[in-house]
Amino acid sequence: MNKVVVVTGAGRGLGFSVVKKHIALKDTIYAFDYQITDELKKLADEYPALKYYLCDISQDKDVSGATSEILTAEKHLDYLYNIAGIFIFEERVGLAETSLDKCMLMFNINALGAVRITKALWPLLGKGSVVVNVTSESGSVGAMRRVQEYGYSMSKSAENMFSKILSNELWEKEARVMCFHPGWLRTPMGGPAAFESDRSVSPDVSAGNIVNTILDIDKIPRDQMYMQHTGEILPW
Ligand SMILES: NC(=O)c1ccc[n+]([C@@H]2O[C@H](COP(=O)([O-])OP(=O)(O)OC[C@H]3O[C@@H](n4cnc5c(N)ncnc54)[C@H](OP(=O)(O)O)[C@@H]3O)[C@@H](O)[C@H]2O)c1
Repeated sequence: MNKVVVVTGAGRGLGFSVVKKHIALKDTIYAFDYQITDELKKLADEYPALKYYLCDISQDKDVSGATSEILTAEKHLDYLYNIAGIFIFEERVGLAETSLDKCMLMFNINALGAVRITKALWPLLGKGSVVVNVTSESGSVGAMRRVQEYGYSMSKSAENMFSKILSNELWEKEARVMCFHPGWLRTPMGGPAAFESDRSVSPDVSAGNIVNTILDIDKIPRDQMYMQHTGEILPW
């Protein structure tokens, strides 16, 4: 197919699974992560069209450095997957114990990280481009029932709002934006219970669902942009 793809959070978890899906499609992949894992290096050794870049998405300098080569090498970006994110487990607490410093850290990575990367790659977004923001059902104001996790949930709502405004702006360029809840993932972020539960999902299955949806984006109406990886619509 030879599409041009950027993936953040590519070293492990869902991002790594998305990279594998696009390798199977024979695409050109630019993979970003905070640390470059041995698994990602091994994939790049086997598949030369996969290039990896060290990039902390909370830092402007890192983002401009890591994206500069892509801006020179490519004229158009087909798929941008904003997947990198953090969940600070100690922040699974009520308001009285919530740390504002940790809230700001989650905002800076989960919400503004996606903004930074997308802004840096803006010149490459055009007709047919799709920006995929992996947010969370915890960012759904309409479905929210939690009594804790303020910082994480608020950061994901902010990423949803970013997606909506971006979608409005990109519409004129005939480019699309989607937000996905990837399910409760069997990853370090999903936590140990996810590996035991039959309500959780493997990152490979979730990534397969997300990538297949994106490959068939024309079947999705423009106003259905926030959904589970399985396709069920989520309320904003
Ligand atoms: N896990 C779940 O159940 C769940 C549920 C709903 C939504 N999500 C969302 O789905 C996405 C993927 O989750 P996951 O379970 O695959 O998480 P994960 O296994 O923890 O992977 C997250 C990735 O993001 C990278 N990352 C963290 N901070 C970064 C930074 N400042 N700059 C660049 N990269 C950074 C991590 O790098 P390092 O390995 O170097 O730290 C890691 O590769 C996240 O956005 C998450 O919020 C997950």
